[in-house]
Amino acid sequence: MNIGAFPTEFEWSTATAAHQIEGGNTNNDWWDWEHAPGTPVAEPSGDACNSWLQWTDDLDLIRGLGVRSYRFSVEWSRLEPAPGEWSNAACDHYLRQCEALVEAGIRPTVTLHHFTTPRWAVRNGGWTDPDIVGRFAEFTHRVAERLAPSVGRFCTLNEPNVVAAMGYLMGLFPPGVANDRASHDLAVTNMVAAHRAAVDAVRAAAPSAEVGLTVNMADYQTVPGGEAQAAEAEATENVFLDATDGDDFIGVQVYTRMLMGPDGWLGPQPGVPVVETMGYEYWPDALGACLRRTWARTGGRIPLLVTENGTASDGPGERTRFVHAALKSVLACLEDGVDVRGYTYWSLLDNYEWAFGYQPTFGLVHVDRTTFVRTPKDAYHWFAGVIAANNVPDQLSGD
Ligand code: BGC
Repeated sequence: MNIGAFPTEFEWSTATAAHQIEGGNTNNDWWDWEHAPGTPVAEPSGDACNSWLQWTDDLDLIRGLGVRSYRFSVEWSRLEPAPGEWSNAACDHYLRQCEALVEAGIRPTVTLHHFTTPRWAVRNGGWTDPDIVGRFAEFTHRVAERLAPSVGRFCTLNEPNVVAAMGYLMGLFPPGVANDRASHDLAVTNMVAAHRAAVDAVRAAAPSAEVGLTVNMADYQTVPGGEAQAAEAEATENVFLDATDGDDFIGVQVYTRMLMGPDGWLGPQPGVPVVETMGYEYWPDALGACLRRTWARTGGRIPLLVTENGTASDGPGERTRFVHAALKSVLACLEDGVDVRGYTYWSLLDNYEWAFGYQPTFGLVHVDRTTFVRTPKDAYHWFAGVIAANNVPDQLSGD
């Protein structure tokens, strides 16, 4: 028995990001951060999944899933290795990838900035430098112009709220600064401006493509006295949700709930399973809650896309159960009139999980760290079945 069907046009997808899978992205701020002494980064990205060379292996896996879209990012530091200097070879590489996807009936969804910033841009202050707005817009225009014939959708910035918080408040991402509220706020202002400028650039260079932003969200719940903390946390997301007016979609990216008390996040709660390698609760229902909050915040003006959702829990059945529950929460949103156009599982591959290194495994596909041999997990086959049926089954198989 089925518990509900998704709309016929519902866009199933999976995702990756350049630095997490390509390997050898030596010209950006993350590479430096991974190799700097004394940082909290577990290990360097190195060869990652070797996807720069093995992208056709990835394509076979994407095709095998039956998704309608594949979300991946282009690496700014490869395309523009020095200010104004353009790599036609790198651009052709991404163009071939887009064309191959289109050929396979899969819509490329291209993210223009997924956490990594070219070394040259960082030297000038990175996201705290107002000049980055124009630089990013120029880069976007160029990419959109070249990829336009095959790319149906662009995401401007991936989770700018995470870049700002991790980079300037928590010191976990480059530039590795902690508690610098002024720089954080400046980076946020510049990222909002960069998003708006990039939307204009895409519209000028690729008028038929959709364009939008992706935001990292959590389901903030409270114990008495935690309301102000929850509101403060939501505000860091709202500043970007409020910057989406006129966009074609909002990319909602959700991994967990956070229970807030008077002093902030209370951490994982007793009795709630934990995604061990990430240190947060295994809480799939967070997705529906965040979709509803986004829809309410933006007044139902802009369609929503789940551009990331998934888990690093690799125990038997854990991933399947997670996605099953998350999808049920999406169905409930659809029934209530929330316009959710698609669902993207993060990630296609076990890949480089930033400061956590290779320990967390979000992939539908295991990647051998030495040979780069890709092996689909049970959840890969299960998710392919969901996509083929356009529905969520009652019965769950293993993970
Ligand atoms: C990021 C991904 C990351 C994922 C899982 C998102 O915040 O966009 O790059 O791998 O979460 O932590």
